[in-house]
Amino acid sequence: MTNIDLAELRNLAIAQLALSYSPYSNFPVGAAGIVDDGRTVVGTNVENASYGLTLCAECSMVSDLVRTGGGRLVAVSTVQGDKTPVAPCGRCRQLLFEHGGPNLLVDWEPEPLLLGALIPEAFGPDNLA
Ligand code: THU
Repeated sequence: MTNIDLAELRNLAIAQLALSYSPYSNFPVGAAGIVDDGRTVVGTNVENASYGLTLCAECSMVSDLVRTGGGRLVAVSTVQGDKTPVAPCGRCRQLLFEHGGPNLLVDWEPEPLLLGALIPEAFGPDNLA
């Protein structure tokens, strides 16, 4: 396991805000995660003129995870434009569950949360076993 510094992870998520492509909502989101091998992965939201095709920041972070070698997410931070944590949308909770499971640490205020509290009794890979 790796050391988890959530303040540092949040700063990494904040750094992604500047890369956001969100001309329609003007709601930039940055995401950062720690992988069980110690590396970090990042993402930002990528909107589309066909609004419903928007990719959330967590979605692009998961792509970065897979693209750079996979592994299990152990902690994530997702922030909005004012640099405070934003709740992952329902779809992203499912995406995060696939790669981190219920014990994934989610940066939140006043306390971090476990993903299992955000998506209880989630459908996941075990259901297909
Ligand atoms: N957004 C994310 O990137 N992640 C979330 O979990 C919530 C919503 C983005 C999608 C869209 O670009 C903008 O926030 C407003 O909905």
